[in-house]
Amino acid sequence: MKGETLQLGLAGMGTVGTGVYETLCRNYSLLEARAQISFAVKRIAVRDLARAREVEVPADLLTDDWHELVNDPEIDIIIELIGGTTDAYALIKAAILAGKPVVTGNKAVLAKYGSELFQLSAEKGTPLYFEASCGGGIPIVQCLQNSLICNKVESIVGIINGTSNYILSSMRETGETMRDALEKAQALGFAEADPSFDINGWDAAHKALILAMLAYGTPLSADKISVYGIERVESVDFRFAEQLGYTIKLLVVIKHHEENDSLELRVQPSFVPKQHLLASVDGVFNAIAVKGDVVGETIFYGRGAGKNPTASAVIGDVVLAMRECHLPGYHTGFQPYTKQMDVLPMAETVTPYYVRFRVQDKHGVIASIAAMLAKYDIGISGTTSTMCEVDANGVRWNHLVFMIHACKWVRLKYVLRELATNDAIDRHPVVFRIEDLNS
Ligand code: HSE
Repeated sequence: MKGETLQLGLAGMGTVGTGVYETLCRNYSLLEARAQISFAVKRIAVRDLARAREVEVPADLLTDDWHELVNDPEIDIIIELIGGTTDAYALIKAAILAGKPVVTGNKAVLAKYGSELFQLSAEKGTPLYFEASCGGGIPIVQCLQNSLICNKVESIVGIINGTSNYILSSMRETGETMRDALEKAQALGFAEADPSFDINGWDAAHKALILAMLAYGTPLSADKISVYGIERVESVDFRFAEQLGYTIKLLVVIKHHEENDSLELRVQPSFVPKQHLLASVDGVFNAIAVKGDVVGETIFYGRGAGKNPTASAVIGDVVLAMRECHLPGYHTGFQPYTKQMDVLPMAETVTPYYVRFRVQDKHGVIASIAAMLAKYDIGISGTTSTMCEVDANGVRWNHLVFMIHACKWVRLKYVLRELATNDAIDRHPVVFRIEDLNS
């Protein structure tokens, strides 16, 4: 057993904080034996001292002021699980400045302040650990930092929001609407009480920014990523996807373009070939495919949220932090986070597309769309259609799907803008990217 007992300060006793405390108590001997380090939770900062808790905590450990953790000279490591971005940012910054390594699971604070905090951590030589911020229990951060260290990361493509994946899986299986599937997810306790960030893609985008900063060592901010959520996915899209050999997933795509050393960063509902492993990741599960120049393709799969999976990731980092406290200088950090990289403008990104138009059932509509695509030199790989509805005026409307060959987004945008003036075509077509996931 090495040295003195290391003292931990835990900030936050919500779902994950409770899971961490419970696991540290329950598996104490196992952890101590494996880490060969003795440790104790010295202090826990909570918002409300009077609140009833799921787990019994000695009253003298509790405080409602997180500053006490940072100011206590006996506390060696801070675990930040308070959530939000205001107090969490202040706490992480204060801890790093005080020379106390920090473990956090807070994706929102890292997406917003990561560039500054990673830089500060490197300058001060005080490590900041964040395994739990991406993919819950999936060990992706430490894998990128350690096991895959010799690789140039070519791409990271993943499903990293469990709630939206549950909703899409449920829509595909039952044909229900997005709203019905969301209500079910909320009733089962999967979705957050306010699930807006799950639905609008921003929860996944926060995690994508963190993974991209880590993999490429470059500071990034929210304005660099293109984000579309699952709001526009309808059951009819699943029927077309099935017929065409795909399923629909909310995908995070991070791609390195070697030719100009730029990054492509986007989150959007995408057509995924049914035979690709990511297509079979259903329910609340997450999966992240990392392609490296040396290792080739790897896929990490597991529970992306929840008390115990997230606690598992947090405690993995706590043990790493404890080991590094005994070996100062051992953790040099994976990347300096100082490299400036360009992010490819969305207009320049290239994929094939699925475009579903709602059109009046009359002469020349298909021809006018095909002509417009031809005008912008965009190829069509297939079309399919189905009856949609008869409106109040007795006009028949059809769903008309075009599968579009790979082209720059800007060209398809011009086509859609020109078609918007055609009264026989609904102004808001549904557009999803098709990811072949082989390039
Ligand atoms: N709301 C998130 C999800 C929780 O559904 O994946 C974990 O970040």
